[in-house]
Amino acid sequence: MKKILEAISEEMKKAFADAGYDEELGKVTLSNRPDLCEYQCNGAMAGAKRYHKAPIAIAGEVAEQLKDSPVFSQAEAAAPGFLNLKLSDDFLCTYLKEMQACDKFGMEAPDKEKTIIVDYGGPNVAKPLHVGHLRSAVIGESIKRIARFAGFRVIGDIHMGDWGLQMGLIITELQERKPELVYFQEDYTGEYPKEPPFTITEMEEIYPTASRKSKEDPVYKEKAMENTFKIQQGVRGHRALWEHIMNVSVTDMKRIYDKLNVEFDLWNGESTVQYLLADMVEGMKKGGYAHESEGALVVDVKEESDTREIPPCIILKSDGAALYSTTDLATISERVTKYDPDSMIYITDKRQAMHFEQVFRCARKTKLIGEDVKLVHIGFGTVNGKDGKPFKTRDGGVPKLEKLITDIDEEMLRKILESRQDMSEEEARKIADIVGLAALKYGDLSNQAAKDYSFDIDRFTSFEGDTGPYILYTIVRIKSILAKYQEQGGTLENTQLSPAVSPDEKALMMEIAKFNTMMEAAFTECAPHKVCAYIYDLANAFNRFYHETKIIAEEDEAKKAGLIALLVLTREVLETCIDLLGFSAPDRM
Ligand code: ARG
Repeated sequence: MKKILEAISEEMKKAFADAGYDEELGKVTLSNRPDLCEYQCNGAMAGAKRYHKAPIAIAGEVAEQLKDSPVFSQAEAAAPGFLNLKLSDDFLCTYLKEMQACDKFGMEAPDKEKTIIVDYGGPNVAKPLHVGHLRSAVIGESIKRIARFAGFRVIGDIHMGDWGLQMGLIITELQERKPELVYFQEDYTGEYPKEPPFTITEMEEIYPTASRKSKEDPVYKEKAMENTFKIQQGVRGHRALWEHIMNVSVTDMKRIYDKLNVEFDLWNGESTVQYLLADMVEGMKKGGYAHESEGALVVDVKEESDTREIPPCIILKSDGAALYSTTDLATISERVTKYDPDSMIYITDKRQAMHFEQVFRCARKTKLIGEDVKLVHIGFGTVNGKDGKPFKTRDGGVPKLEKLITDIDEEMLRKILESRQDMSEEEARKIADIVGLAALKYGDLSNQAAKDYSFDIDRFTSFEGDTGPYILYTIVRIKSILAKYQEQGGTLENTQLSPAVSPDEKALMMEIAKFNTMMEAAFTECAPHKVCAYIYDLANAFNRFYHETKIIAEEDEAKKAGLIALLVLTREVLETCIDLLGFSAPDRM
């Protein structure tokens, strides 16, 4: 269905045409002066020169055409030539009814099936998830959901770092501690045990120990590199250990991503595309794209129009080893073959911007990907502490992701118990987990991705202001009014929206009507913060309306049913939006 601005502009264009002017002048925008009008059109000013007429005269003629318009209750010419507009209550009501009747409130799917791959999460196997992994997971999940809502086939891929030195380090430390393990016996030909020779807790201790040792001891580091090489060469015992590390680590990652309500369709990683590397590199050499530079194999990716230095994309290091960019290139190639995507969206720290610029250019230049496939990198900023510096634990360490989640949930629990003495601790805890997730995700997503923000538990968990709990509180309020209405014998199914009777009711309806415009922008710009800004405005509009309006106490039954219908629609829109952000609302809080 048409977006509200399109629908209104259509009426305005007709009026311009009927008054004898070019209909293209009839573009309507939101008002710059909300005190005077809801929408405005500046077409008369734009047309003045062309028609050699004072803008106010043109505006007056157009306004005349709109006197009996079903769309506008007011269309006034104002000096020097604006058209100040107010929507008719009937038109607005009809528009919302259509939104409600349509699937996805009228947001239209693309004409033909299109596929988007969202590459997000990006954890490194064997290392615990930390604060640095929060944003990719939260923003990526939301972008994936928004694209799905927009009617695309969307595949979310976690793209793990599962092929690097960290795997060799763990094996080296294991070998020091338990050299007798069968994995290290070169002449062993039997089956390896199904059970891993370590637990997740041990692994999380082994990795930092090994990493520290390798920094202090060159011989240890040499061993770790050799072990990494052995995994990559496919030495049986090493591969079996690699599988164990993967299983233990992935099980734990799933548990934490689950807490974040983040779900991946593909659990691929750097290891997934190893089988493609040799041929890909060969192809780049044969095609004349790759050349040697200081012993390394590189592809030049700078372009004449560049205003900054873009270094060549390195394909192989001088020792012949593949790099991060090599696996990313092979991954692009694999995705093209397997899924034929129309676009790929990567969500990482913005400090990786140059890496993706090089990889994207290289993929196009070497024809791994056609011109028609869009490659997008969404780079996010840093999570800071309240002091504006990267967020650290009290002792200066990197905070673990799981701990951040627990801290927020605990604070939420404290706040809920404080305000709801009637609630059992058990119920409060369940609710705190739901609201805590909203606090965490909204706290992150309400910021433009590229900007840094400060992780402020106290602010994020507040029931007031631009926060997740405030949004949920509003939804819960609506749910409880609707429940009361039903308890008193009302049914929600056959209530009908009716035209607004108060300014606050109209303001609420106008916010709802903006949904499609907002969604299109959130999708095309990969911008979940637009969904946040929208629901914050919508929640405010609802709460203003709620404070000024009798709902349950309304005596006129027909009027009451109309108000209830508006509540139902408001709740549906809010719940749809929070689902797109990746969290949900409890029934009470
Ligand atoms: N593992 C990488 C890191 O820790 C992130 C992976 C992002 N995705 C990608 N296709 N490169 O930085």
